[in-house]
Amino acid sequence: MSKSINTILLQEEFSHADLVALLNAQGQDKTAIYTRSAEIKKQYIGNKVYFRGLVELSNICSKNCLYCGIRSGNPKPGRYMVTEDEVLEAASFALENGYGSMVLQSGERCDEKFAKTVSDLLKKIKELSGGKLGITLSMGEQTEDTYREWFANGAHRYLIRIETSDRELYYRIHPKDKKHDFDIRINALKLLREIGYNVGSGVMIGLPFQTIEHLAGDLLFLKQLDVDMVGMGPFIEHEDTPLYEFRDSLWPKKDRFDVSLKMVALLRIMMKDINIAATTAMQAIDKQGREKALKVGANIIMPNLTPLKYREDYLLYEDKPCLDEDASQCRNCLEARIHMAGDEIGFNEWGDSAHFAKRTSSSKLD
Ligand code: 5AD
Ligand code: SF4
Ligand code: FES
Repeated sequence: MSKSINTILLQEEFSHADLVALLNAQGQDKTAIYTRSAEIKKQYIGNKVYFRGLVELSNICSKNCLYCGIRSGNPKPGRYMVTEDEVLEAASFALENGYGSMVLQSGERCDEKFAKTVSDLLKKIKELSGGKLGITLSMGEQTEDTYREWFANGAHRYLIRIETSDRELYYRIHPKDKKHDFDIRINALKLLREIGYNVGSGVMIGLPFQTIEHLAGDLLFLKQLDVDMVGMGPFIEHEDTPLYEFRDSLWPKKDRFDVSLKMVALLRIMMKDINIAATTAMQAIDKQGREKALKVGANIIMPNLTPLKYREDYLLYEDKPCLDEDASQCRNCLEARIHMAGDEIGFNEWGDSAHFAKRTSSSKLD
């Protein structure tokens, strides 16, 4: 006889089969998972949600991921780079509004000029905020020297989603060439950890060809990698991408959302003290997607600070929210949403995960 969900939830460790059962849970079983993950969040994280003001720095990308609306092969988006003044304006907004941190995200570019531009921005943001603003980077795969240079200039968190931890599936959603190499991506996560970053990763949920078994594997992968932060959300098809061809075989959007919520809850149960984002993609499917994610375990929100004129050109997927809402509107909207979820905002704090503090202090003792 198979184990009941309640029995599995009492365990400290989950096998792949346990996770498959949990991901398939419905009705009361599903409620039991959410009750457990909410308890763990309360106990280990509390009710503080940290803001990371997001600037989508540039949509210029040398990669061609088969799912992404700003892939280099899509001629439609006007390619942009936010100016230094605009980034600093966003940084001032973040500072004035008590956001503890910013995230700079962009398409992948590995030229020296870009590395230098980012370094200059890091220095100026640190200067402007007197070191107060924490900075996360999400700029894809770079050379070790570049990761080190950016770290030295003040970035202390880095996000690279693995997208899927299954090698075969990885190559079905990326072009099969040297530019999209699974091993380089895994290695990037290891390098970033060695350098001293808080390391974040994550996956998309409901990809073509993806199964619940793959997703159970993703949870084990994130745990094994011992990441400090995770951002994950539903895959949402974009009509100007090659994967659009498979739109009729995808799970219904509601199911993709449901499984995403369960992934957040299960990850919280498995990795009690990490930071987990309530992602924008969750809100693209369900109007209350981010609040729901907070309720079941997430504790990070990334309000968009990208100047409005660029937002139409940073559409990684369809139905992306906040295209017409500026920084103040998103702030008000998110404050209300966080309160609705019963949480509070952790103003003026970096809000690094307790997980990072723990692993770095214990490694100093080794
Ligand atoms: N649907 C959902 N998420 C997407 N991303 C890119 N394209 C899509 C899509 N079509 C996510 C990827 C990437 C992050 C910046 O956005 O996970 O790492
Ligand atoms: Fe570029 Fe990232 Fe989009 Fe891939 S997912 S095409 S690396 S912006
Ligand atoms: Fe931007 Fe709600 S978060 S309008």
